[in-house]
Amino acid sequence: MAATGSEKQGAKAYYVSTPIYYVNDAPHLGHAYTTVAGDVLTRWHRQRGEKVWYLTGTDEHGQKIMRTAEANGVSPQEWCDKLVEEAWKPLWEHLNIANDDFIRTTEKRHTDRVQEFVQDLYDKGEIYKGGYEGPYCVGCEEYKLPGDLIDGEGEYAGQKLCPIHKRPVEILKEENYFFKLSEYGPKLLEFYEANPGFIQPESARNEVVNFAKQGLQDLSISRSTFDWGVPVPWDEKHVIYVWIDALLNYATAVGYNENPAKFEETFPANVHLIGKDILRFHAIIWPAMLMANDLPVPGRVACNGWLMVGGEKMSKSNLTGIKPQDLTSHFGVDAYRWYFLRAISFGQDGSFSWEDFTARYTSELANDYGNLASRVAAMVGKYFGGALPEATASGEAEKAVQAGMAKAAAEADRKIGEELDFQGGILAVLDFVKQVNGYITEQEPWKVAKDESPEGQARLATILYTAAESLRAVAVLLNPVMPVTSQALWDSLGAEAPLGALADQRVQRAGEWGGLPAGVTVTKGAVLFPRLEELKKD
Ligand code: ME8
Ligand code: MG
Repeated sequence: MAATGSEKQGAKAYYVSTPIYYVNDAPHLGHAYTTVAGDVLTRWHRQRGEKVWYLTGTDEHGQKIMRTAEANGVSPQEWCDKLVEEAWKPLWEHLNIANDDFIRTTEKRHTDRVQEFVQDLYDKGEIYKGGYEGPYCVGCEEYKLPGDLIDGEGEYAGQKLCPIHKRPVEILKEENYFFKLSEYGPKLLEFYEANPGFIQPESARNEVVNFAKQGLQDLSISRSTFDWGVPVPWDEKHVIYVWIDALLNYATAVGYNENPAKFEETFPANVHLIGKDILRFHAIIWPAMLMANDLPVPGRVACNGWLMVGGEKMSKSNLTGIKPQDLTSHFGVDAYRWYFLRAISFGQDGSFSWEDFTARYTSELANDYGNLASRVAAMVGKYFGGALPEATASGEAEKAVQAGMAKAAAEADRKIGEELDFQGGILAVLDFVKQVNGYITEQEPWKVAKDESPEGQARLATILYTAAESLRAVAVLLNPVMPVTSQALWDSLGAEAPLGALADQRVQRAGEWGGLPAGVTVTKGAVLFPRLEELKKD
């Protein structure tokens, strides 16, 4: 992304991260959900003219990856390389994810810095050697508290299961190094109290506060029974616990101990986007690690809810065979990016169904939005030879549209840019689209066109200008969500010549009336949202 005029040199970047995903398997709809949300959020802030840093990547160490590689008869590094290059990076490209960096935890730029961070903690007396025995879930890569486990049934009757993976836990007994997490409870509680917006949504915040209030245990941060990890620098028989390694990606990727200028202008993250499964790691362990090493803590940890299938959290084992590419090949990439953010209130769980996606696509994208764009372009072509006329006869109806546009832009900016209420922000824009459709239905330009008097022609020009100028704002405001169709609309409005590139249009000024100058050449481009083929049901 090229620097633009309003970016201040040296200003703190708006820094957003996704989890770094485990590469034991290919990405699914759930991973794409978090990553698309982060992409929309960062594109929004870029369109505010801010300096932005969007980070994603992969988590490649630990027992889970090691066992998967073994089961497939390759080394863990070979396994990771293959998955990253053939599955993860291609999906992000396919979905138009504009990440600024992609960190892999097996990279030297990461592993060297992880060792330094942990060595610093050790030198400060924050780490000691101890023993531990307890139930461990390899799926979570986490020691569980006995109280968190659930009783197995059926094939697992009589065993204790991880509540997330519904698989038996293993009892591990090891001599490891421990981080004095227990000492950070009071400091963390003070921090949550002083920063009520740190954890989003409210339910997640309450869970973390209640958990911390019960008292924290020290955290085992090394493992000695396998070697697929970053060696503990002062005792190479141990590798660093995969979660300590993984969380540090948020620092190592932006120049920790390596590029002070970059680190200074980027760290800490404004928003760590995550799912609820990894909340405690991000809202308890990560800030405590930073506090222990005198580093600043992040601005916000925001959880998305679960994408569900058949009443269960969608996971690698119950995907019912749906891949992101199955949906994009049917609905298109833009509609895919839009659908989950539009249909599910961010932070709440939500189900996917072909029927719901089809119904919303048809009514909101194809009928409301797509038709508006093609009708307006067609009428400017038919009545004015494609040259956008001036609005010289505006009245009450036009004032209402202008007010609607200002409201939609302000609401979308607050909801998406600040509150991470993607659904609310998208709806504000789509409600405005409905309003403009209603305006055209009421004004009946095709009837006004028959009135050849100067007054009649001035009204016709005013109606079409009003509709086209409304579409200008819609293209700008939906660009972070649906960049390909927004560009097509921008082209159809002939907006680039007078106004410049779509990505440079400021979202916070999109609601100011009159941006699109009369005289631009409006053309009828390709249909934005084609009618869907009948789904072939096997
Ligand atoms: O936990 N609905 O990686 P992971 C919504 N490597 N989001 C979902 C989802 C679903 N059904 N399934 C997955 C890890 N996600 C660690 C992270 S970070 C320092 C290390 C998303 O591959 C959601 O964001 O298990 C969740 O937190 C993440 O994928 C877990 O990815
Ligand atoms: Mg997981």
